[in-house]
Parts: sequence; structure tokens; C-alpha cells
Amino acid sequence: MNQSLPRLGRISKAVIPAAGLGTRFLPATKATPKEMLPVVDKPAIQYVVEEAVAAGLSDVLMITGRNKRPLEDHFDRNYELEEALSRKGDAERLSKVQEPSDLATMHYVRQGAPRGLGHAVLCAAPHVGDQPFAVLLGDDLIDPRDPLLARMVEVQEREGGSVIALMEVEPSQIHLYGCAAVEATAEGDVVKVTDLVEKPGPGEAPSNYAIIGRYVLDPAVFGTLRETEPGRGGEIQLTDALQKLASDEKIGGPVHGVVFKGRRYDTGDRGDYLRAIVRLACEREDLGPDFRAWLRRYVSEEM
Ligand code: UTP
Repeated sequence: MNQSLPRLGRISKAVIPAAGLGTRFLPATKATPKEMLPVVDKPAIQYVVEEAVAAGLSDVLMITGRNKRPLEDHFDRNYELEEALSRKGDAERLSKVQEPSDLATMHYVRQGAPRGLGHAVLCAAPHVGDQPFAVLLGDDLIDPRDPLLARMVEVQEREGGSVIALMEVEPSQIHLYGCAAVEATAEGDVVKVTDLVEKPGPGEAPSNYAIIGRYVLDPAVFGTLRETEPGRGGEIQLTDALQKLASDEKIGGPVHGVVFKGRRYDTGDRGDYLRAIVRLACEREDLGPDFRAWLRRYVSEEM
């Protein structure tokens, strides 16, 4: 086991697991990763990479699966399209095409078989090395106006160890998430995590704090993941490895939670995906006014 002192230091690497099967979105995800589904006019994954960059992380490793091509192509140059738009003098659309490829330094690694989120994170070990790193789930969208990751990085750089993102949910919903047992700290939005349970059964949830898809992790998590047996659903669960870190600070330092109260959408869930699109479209300067007027009419006349 990786016995080490908590590491402190500037975090620069982000890992984005995007190798899940996306079965809740079939048939759309038969040949396309769910992370490529558009939220208004941008694929969900671009919002996630933009969030990493906004938090100061410019080295992005994406864990991809069987349909990796669209993901790689999206963050690469497309000379044919760029040339066509240049010839037309369409500078606005040209910049939209170039934007994703200029965002960050992108790296890709293939997971092979989708053996769970923990296994996907373990695939990042050779790239990450010995420094703390961030994990952003490719289908979890955090509103850019509610900067969660930057706050998590700040807490990790001060406290060492690992930091997870938590959100209070209705007790009836906690069985859908990983759940944290916590102790208060001097800061209102930061808690100490003492235990974790993945998708707790009835009466098993220690709180209504649900784990959401942002993590800043000590690299000791890799050693723990290697020793983690497949858990719920036959998958290697990241929550199980984090549970070991939380129960023994000697492994990789403490585990803290940042309690998020902002806007978040699980774009892997069809209902939340639709809500994200409607909300973000309403708020857009270019599309919002017309769309809001139509939506008002639609709701009053047809519902
Ligand atoms: P989900 O739990 O949403 O699973 O994964 P899924 O397979 O993607 O989707 P459904 O439930 O079948 O519809 C959470 C995150 O972990 C990644 C997914 O891509 C998603 O970002 N993941 C999951 C992997 O990268 N590899 C895996 O083996 C499993």
C-alpha cells in the first residue's frame, strides 16, 4: 500500500472519464458517446473541458471507450471546415470551430472494457504520476457561474489529501448516489468525510450528502484502486477506493467534501438533460428572448 504524507502542490491535470456505455440514452448512444450529445449547440463534454480550464487545469486526459473518434475529432482541428468558413469570410463560425481545439492540451487513453468508474480512473495512473489531480465526470454539467472545481482545488491545496463534491439530495433519492458520512469543519461549505457508501440500500445511508461528479484526488487512490475488488454491478467503484482513503488517513491524507449548492445537471439522465437544455437556452442572449416567448406560449396554451 502507498503509505505517504499528504501531497500539496499546484494541480494541473484533469482526468475526464467518458467510456461508459450510456445505456440510459439508447439508441442515441449506440454509435456516439453520450458526452457528445449537444446541450443547446455545444456537446456536453466541451462544457466540462471548459470548466477544467476555468479552474486552471490545462492538461486534460480523456478516458475513452469504443466510440472514441467523435470525442477526439471534436477537440482536434478540422482544416476542411475551417477553410470553407474562411473562404466564406464567416469569422464567427470559424472561431466556434477552432475554440475546442485551442482550449487545452488533450490526451486520450482507452479503457478497453467498461469495468467501472474506478477502473476508468486507474487507466489515468501512468499519465498522472505522483501529483494530485482532478476528475470530472463527462456527463455531469456544473453551471459555469457556480465555480465548484476551483473551490475544491483551493481546499486540496490547503488541506492535502483528497476532496470530493457533495450535494444534499432528498432522502428518497440518496439510493441513486454514493453517500458520505461527514463531520462539520470551521468552514460552512467544507466537511470532513469519515465514511462512504455506494448507492446505499434502505436504512443504510449515513446522511443525505450525495457524491457528484467532481473530485480532486491524491495519487494514493491508484494503489487503493488496484486493491479494490469489483463491487456493486461487478464494476470497480471509485467510491469503494475513496472509502478506504477516508477510513485511514495514513494512506493518502484526509478526505474532505465541498458542499455544492449551485446549478448542476446530470446529462446522462434524459429528464435532467432536457432541463439543462431548456434552462441554458432560456438564458442565452442570442436564442433566449425568442425561445422564452415560445416556451411561455407553449406552457399556457398546450399544457
Ligand atoms: P454512469 O454511471 O453514468 O454509467 O457513468 P454509463 O455507462 O456512462 O451510463 P448508463 O448508466 O449506462 O446510461 C458515470 C461516468 O463514468 C464514466 C462514464 O462515461 C460517465 O462519465 N465511466 C463509467 C467510464 O468512463 N467507464 C466505465 O467503465 C463506467
